[in-house]
Amino acid sequence: GHAGGGVERRVLLAGPRSFCAGVERAIDIVEQALEQRGAPVYVRKQIVHNATVVDELAERGAVFVEELDEVPDHATVVFSAHGVSPAVRQEAARRGLDVIDGTCPLVAKVHAEARRFAARGDAVVLVGHAGHEEVEGTLGEAPESMALVSTADDVRELELAEGRPVSYLTQTTLAVDETAEVVDVLREKFPSLQEPPSDDICYATTNRQAALQAVVDESELVLVVGSENSSNSVRLVELSRRAGVPAELIDRAEDIRPEWLEGVRTIGLTAGASAPPALVTEVVTWLGAFGPVHVDEREITRETVFFELPSVLRGDAQRAT
Ligand code: F3S
Repeated sequence: GHAGGGVERRVLLAGPRSFCAGVERAIDIVEQALEQRGAPVYVRKQIVHNATVVDELAERGAVFVEELDEVPDHATVVFSAHGVSPAVRQEAARRGLDVIDGTCPLVAKVHAEARRFAARGDAVVLVGHAGHEEVEGTLGEAPESMALVSTADDVRELELAEGRPVSYLTQTTLAVDETAEVVDVLREKFPSLQEPPSDDICYATTNRQAALQAVVDESELVLVVGSENSSNSVRLVELSRRAGVPAELIDRAEDIRPEWLEGVRTIGLTAGASAPPALVTEVVTWLGAFGPVHVDEREITRETVFFELPSVLRGDAQRAT
């Protein structure tokens, strides 16, 4: 018999999955900084929320720190994909640090909206998760004018100054359906609520949720490759569980527990936007140890988004255009 002697299983591979354009750019920034500036290159916070990515970059000379006071004067420091508050930028400038900004352009877009809405006098409601790095950075744009909510109940309890126009923004990696509910309650409470000009939940978050939604009903178990602190990965696990399908978040193939697979013939497999594609391949290989695996790729859309490196790292930066 086959190794593991197990039953034949089907893997429904949800696509899009794994790296988004913002994560690819952020990783590329650290790699290019190491190549062009030489090690060590400091990185404030995890460049992206994935243990494997961070370990691999650390091996190559990236030094991950929590705050700028751990970075020597005049050293090179990369800001993570999740963005930073203006206070952090000011501190870096004051310290004479050589900053390379890894903030995803789609996070930077939300920051720009926060500045614009606050500048026109709005009370700005940010829908997001307290303590997440992206939220801390966005709130830092206009701390006096912003309020954070994460649930409909938070909205019901929210008290804002009378007579001030109200607008909202969201974290980029929220659940699309849950956020719509929170925004509905916001709109009921503040009928003149101003929306962001385009969705703040990014294309990658939206696509990964839609792709999983397309296979979840056929699955008896969903495996999401991603780290615990990865917001969009955790949202994928929750999506499955809300659909009534058991789901597990795994950092790598070895995390799969054999008992999860008992009686399971069809597995939905996806990965958060910060999880390397190679880890998904490893999961498929690993599952092969439990019995023959038939992989069924289910790609709902093809992503073509690409973000250029910052000009300070582009090889063509000096070339006349
Ligand atoms: Fe950017 Fe969305 Fe990825 S905000 S880093 S494209 S998950």
